[in-house]
Amino acid sequence: MEKRESFKSSFGLFAAAVGSAVGLGNIWRFPYITGMNGGAAFILVYLICVAIIGLPVLLSEFIIGREGKSNPIDSFKNLMPKGKWYISGILGVMAAFLILSFYSVIAGWTLEYMIKAIGNQFAGKDVNQIDAMFGDFISNPIRPIFWQFIILSLTCYIVASGVEKGIEKYSSLLVPALIVIIIILDIRALTLPGASEGLSFLFKPDFSKVNGKVILDALGHSFFSLSLGAGTMITYGSYIKNNERLGSSALNIAIADTLIAILAGIAIFPVVFAFGIEPDNGPGLVFITLPNVFPKIPGGYIFGILFFLLLALAALTSTISMLEVVVAFGVDRFKASRERVAIISTILIFIVGIFASLSQGVLGHISFLGTDFLDFLDKLTANYFMTAGSLITILFVGWKLDRKITDRQLTNEGMLDIGYVDTFYFVAKYISPIAIILVFLASVGII
Ligand code: TRP
Repeated sequence: MEKRESFKSSFGLFAAAVGSAVGLGNIWRFPYITGMNGGAAFILVYLICVAIIGLPVLLSEFIIGREGKSNPIDSFKNLMPKGKWYISGILGVMAAFLILSFYSVIAGWTLEYMIKAIGNQFAGKDVNQIDAMFGDFISNPIRPIFWQFIILSLTCYIVASGVEKGIEKYSSLLVPALIVIIIILDIRALTLPGASEGLSFLFKPDFSKVNGKVILDALGHSFFSLSLGAGTMITYGSYIKNNERLGSSALNIAIADTLIAILAGIAIFPVVFAFGIEPDNGPGLVFITLPNVFPKIPGGYIFGILFFLLLALAALTSTISMLEVVVAFGVDRFKASRERVAIISTILIFIVGIFASLSQGVLGHISFLGTDFLDFLDKLTANYFMTAGSLITILFVGWKLDRKITDRQLTNEGMLDIGYVDTFYFVAKYISPIAIILVFLASVGII
């Protein structure tokens, strides 16, 4: 058998996984759901969700991947030939496919906005004009699809280049670049007059704002933000070398992902508050609110360009992780070359993605369970596929997988002395599954 590819260095593993985790979820979605859910209290609930659910599921995916040494479906089959646990892998591959088909639409928007920022197109426009600019663009039948094509082509190129020469190499370049950009943006935001109001919104919790919906949003977002329940971290786990420490890798990745989301909040809210804008504008926050204020702040021209560049880079390192799930499966399953599978999968994803893009305009009248196609794909994957995938994953490691295997994976064959194994088991057996089930029942409206 051909030797499985791997991430060559520890930093490469970290960059690839953080690249996957850090995306539109951190810089577009986290700030706006934080804004809509009242700020600091939401962030606190989110941190708890990451710690007791996100982190154990992430670690479980790494264990399954590194032990199963294959794509998500065959990793489960390798570990448990009997039974139907591999259904979790099937859900994962389908989820990765569907998520990429709508995520690439929004990733494409960030490129259009980067070009608009370079062309100084936000200057001299009032709120209504900028609002209309966004509406006109996303409902245009051609331009968003063109940008989506660009994003998918770049993604395909990187994935086709291989795990080490594609994913690891580009993530190792792009993730540090992204961190530098976000720090520059933070410094700009923090030196604006009125910045402190934005900071207290982010860091002074008002617990009267915490309710069921806040917890639900926080949990759903922790899955999305850590790229869980879609086979991504199982696939990446299968490329982790035996001498890497799974526990500390997972912890570092979760910390980096959360920190970057908070740094994105620090780049955005002081700006929003400095101009007396309400923070609860929803998904339009980065495409409408920010373009409104960029022209009004000193250095705003550069700030705007860097901001949309940041979004685009963050999106790209995530789209490659989604495509890799589909490609890893295709390569194993059809015994075809990585290039070929990458190209064919990208075309199929693009076809579904075109409908997601058109659903913001000409096909907007077609309703899927009361919403448009893009939103439907988002809800379908987030509420069902990713939740079910994560639940099966954690139940598998908590209850079904031979504990010797888990111990071996966590201690690197007994080489590491690890104190958290019992805690991990307790959380994986009881805490995470119960929390996931409660949240699922709540999200489909049963409780
Ligand atoms: N985590 C990424 C973000 O926050 C998105 C992402 C990448 C993802 N791979 C995934 C989400 C797999 C769910 C499943 O933007």
